[in-house]
Amino acid sequence: MEKITVIGAGNVGATVANVIAHKDIVKEVVLVDIIEGVAEGKALDIWQTAPINGFNTRVVGVTNNYEKTAGSGIIVVTSGIPRKPGMSRDDLISTNAGIVKTVVEKAMKYSPEAIVIVVANPLDVMSYTAYKTAGIDSSKVFGMAGILDTARYRAFLASELNVSPLDIQALIMGGHGDTMVPLPRYTTVGGIPVTELIDADKLEAIVHRTKVGGGELVKLMGTSAWYAPGAAAAQMCEAIVNDQNRVFPVCALLNGEYGQKDVYLGVPVKLGKNGIEEIVKVDLTEDEQALLDESSIAVKSVMKVLDNMKLF
Ligand code: NAI
Ligand code: 2OP
Repeated sequence: MEKITVIGAGNVGATVANVIAHKDIVKEVVLVDIIEGVAEGKALDIWQTAPINGFNTRVVGVTNNYEKTAGSGIIVVTSGIPRKPGMSRDDLISTNAGIVKTVVEKAMKYSPEAIVIVVANPLDVMSYTAYKTAGIDSSKVFGMAGILDTARYRAFLASELNVSPLDIQALIMGGHGDTMVPLPRYTTVGGIPVTELIDADKLEAIVHRTKVGGGELVKLMGTSAWYAPGAAAAQMCEAIVNDQNRVFPVCALLNGEYGQKDVYLGVPVKLGKNGIEEIVKVDLTEDEQALLDESSIAVKSVMKVLDNMKLF
């Protein structure tokens, strides 16, 4: 793959472009925005770090010019408004659904073979919006949230246990909202079940902090996060470009898996050159399944808002 397009040159989009460029895995990253000059400026600034930081990937910015995105192997959709304090991710739907539909239509016209990674919120429903718009197999349209949510959980655990975050393996499933489903049973520290290393009440507090982890940052900064979200989306791109078959939690369309149908939810998948190569199935206890069902109901209620918008 030679080219990746990132739509939206705001906080998250510019970070995705920057991290991909530093990985040096494609020839070109095209950054697109609707505000004149923003994508061009940020792309130029990133490209000027190449001689210092040592990469070859050209970073190019354009204002609404999709011809320049032609032949992209991946389209990352970050365009959309972020949360302000007091807003939930779901409050963003009326603005962001229209933006996601418009940009996916334009981008797919020039890159019909592309894999689409959605970042805009509300993530699960925006992934569904992109899928309905793109009209391609759902293995090629999915969303970024699980890597971010799991990274937050891993970072909190690393601080609490004073261990390297690299040694913490974990899995969070469900929607990208307060109903997400962290799975302490599938959390290990250097192969040791986390439940053997931490008190139950401390673990419970970390699980709770993870669920509201996005909101914690919105309160601190007045807008939502970008460094970890950008790094997470870039890691998904790397798994696809290098055909790594990484096992990541990804927001995927479910067709009966985990008892869910016609809904985008976070589940573990194998990510490789064709996008979602496989949805990985793990056993859930009754309680875990009940939490996933609850999360699915929450996502479906936001899908109803999308239906009422009559975009499709
Ligand atoms: P931002 O406001 O910094 O950037 C958004 C950019 O999109 C702006 O530059 C804007 O001009 C551009 N844009 C709007 N309409 C456009 C269009 N039609 N075509 C091209 N560009 C367009 O926002 P930020 O912080 O980058 O967040 C972007 C989205 O990502 C938000 O919806 C936010 O909630 C979401 N997000 C999702 C995360 C996840 O885990 N999935 C994590 C962090 C943010
Ligand atoms: C986050 O979790 C707001 O979805 C965004 O940071």
